Amino acid sequence: MRIDVLTIFPQMFDVPFSFGIFKRAIDQNLVSINVHNIRDYTHDKHHTVDDYPHGGGPGMVLKPEPVFEAVAAVKAQLPDESGTAQLPIILLTPQGRLFNQQIAMELSKYRHLIMICGRYEGIDERVVEHLVTDEISIGDYVLTGGELPALVVIDTVIRLLPGVLGSEDSAQEDSHANGLLEYPQYTRPAVFRDWPVPEILLSGNHAQIARWRREQVLRRTVERRPDLIDMTKLGQEEKQLVEQFTALSKAKSSLNKEPEK
Ligand code: ADE
Repeated sequence: MRIDVLTIFPQMFDVPFSFGIFKRAIDQNLVSINVHNIRDYTHDKHHTVDDYPHGGGPGMVLKPEPVFEAVAAVKAQLPDESGTAQLPIILLTPQGRLFNQQIAMELSKYRHLIMICGRYEGIDERVVEHLVTDEISIGDYVLTGGELPALVVIDTVIRLLPGVLGSEDSAQEDSHANGLLEYPQYTRPAVFRDWPVPEILLSGNHAQIARWRREQVLRRTVERRPDLIDMTKLGQEEKQLVEQFTALSKAKSSLNKEPEK
């Protein structure tokens, strides 16, 4: 996969890509990440990337010309066969669709992504209307720019690419990968400060361990993120467990409530 990032702060991408899984994936040519400075596509003496909003108001707005030029320059570098017609051009913005594991999986299927990091009070709407094909938000809060969101999206997508994670199934077992949260993990020592690892995990009985983990997945999801449970995707026994955990969770939360006056 090739990812091109357009930003006015290219240095923000130097450090994250120099470590661990990112670095290994880049070194092994599983992904190439090209960061472009939008400022390099300006033509005035001061390399102006922003301007006052038409109609007045606070803050500055990213100008359209350098963004269009930067995207054109990236497209010109691509081999023809990469099908630029369906190449996603993603703007990171709090107004975008809310990012999740499903969207990460969808993006991981492309051979090439372009990401534009918004800044200032916004970006000229003509970029959104005539250049961008997708808008993504990483959550209902406002950051100072799209650089950290782009890193979040890139991190999530890269670890889904074949060969990037050491063990093929570690991405499969992730929280959210199958729509539910992950089971709890333990490592040695078996007892730490009087707190033992659940006995079943030391039993060596793989069938029982798998069963226990499946129960934990359901229990955790019911307790922490009941909105993620889709009963239509569960078997009969799992549905019963969910009902049981839901009743327990309700009983627990009513115990914790302040008594009514
Ligand atoms: N830019 C500023 N805030 C953002 C957010 N929450 N998601 C994506 N891009 C952003």
